[in-house]
Amino acid sequence: MQSTPTPVTVLGLGAMGRALAAALIEGGHAVTVWNRTPGRDTALTALGARGAATAAEAVRGAGLVIVCLFDHASVHETLDPVAADLTGAAVLNLTSTTPDEARELARWATDHALPYLDGGIMAIPEMIGQPGSSILYSGARAVFDTHRPALELLGTAEYFGDDAGTASLYDFALLAAMYTMFAGFLHGAAMMRAAGVPAAEFADRVVPFVTAMSHAAIRQGHTIDTGDYGNPVQTLSFHKSAVDAIVRATRDAGVGTELLGALKAQIDRQVADGHGGEAFERIVEGLTA
Ligand SMILES: NC(=O)c1ccc[n+]([C@@H]2O[C@H](COP(=O)([O-])OP(=O)(O)OC[C@H]3O[C@@H](n4cnc5c(N)ncnc54)[C@H](OP(=O)(O)O)[C@@H]3O)[C@@H](O)[C@H]2O)c1
Repeated sequence: MQSTPTPVTVLGLGAMGRALAAALIEGGHAVTVWNRTPGRDTALTALGARGAATAAEAVRGAGLVIVCLFDHASVHETLDPVAADLTGAAVLNLTSTTPDEARELARWATDHALPYLDGGIMAIPEMIGQPGSSILYSGARAVFDTHRPALELLGTAEYFGDDAGTASLYDFALLAAMYTMFAGFLHGAAMMRAAGVPAAEFADRVVPFVTAMSHAAIRQGHTIDTGDYGNPVQTLSFHKSAVDAIVRATRDAGVGTELLGALKAQIDRQVADGHGGEAFERIVEGLTA
């Protein structure tokens, strides 16, 4: 006999909370939703969700409470007053928080005898429940195991251990890579726009180029792990010359050098410290020193 899907409550109906709730309803869960500002549950109640007037009402009787709010402070603002009402529920926090903030929330949950799982969503709302959506989890293993069928409705679910901060660490490190990649795109787009080339046309060239080049990260990762930066195919001095030239071209185009300048500063530092003959990946030593 098939068991009834766990009743789930979603606190926070921003773009992401609404997408999570919709995927759970679609997957057959009884879903209760709450949002600080009323009126954001209309589409979800039309799909069958129960709209709760207060957070306390929303969490009472839930098996799993998914929290998807703005930040760490808003999670406390919402959960602190309803700690007693959460009794019997597992808490899954999908709000983006730093690793230390996630650990602090895990301690808060332990103090209230609540099982706590933290998650980092590697998707945008439109991707939730679709192929390509992935969510990273860490914290209470039992919550992950028990609710895994529900979690898989949202995206591929991967568990990273009982330290509640680990999922967030992976999440934010991946986002750091993503943001700096897009910063690079914006820099290039500004250069091209100065020459009258539309950003969309430039983007068509960036996607295949950056996709092909991104695989170099695997080799770079091995180099960083061995700590052997000697005998590279291309040296930091080579990259200094290239990045200096790109900075000059950027200035010539009347474009600001702030974004690329951060990378140039790191290369310059390594070269000034006598590492010009070593590999580009050595920059990571300057970031962690
Ligand atoms: N959107 C994405 O692509 C994406 C991707 C990965 C992760 N995330 C994470 O998911 C979380 C939610 O993102 P979102 O896109 O849904 O953001 P959003 O559309 O800006 O919604 C923010 C939500 O937080 C609520 N909120 C803000 N401050 C609050 C407070 N003090 N007390 C109670 N509720 C409060 C808002 O309620 P009101 O309606 O009352 O303002 C709203 O429901 C964030 O942590 C975000 O980093 C989002």
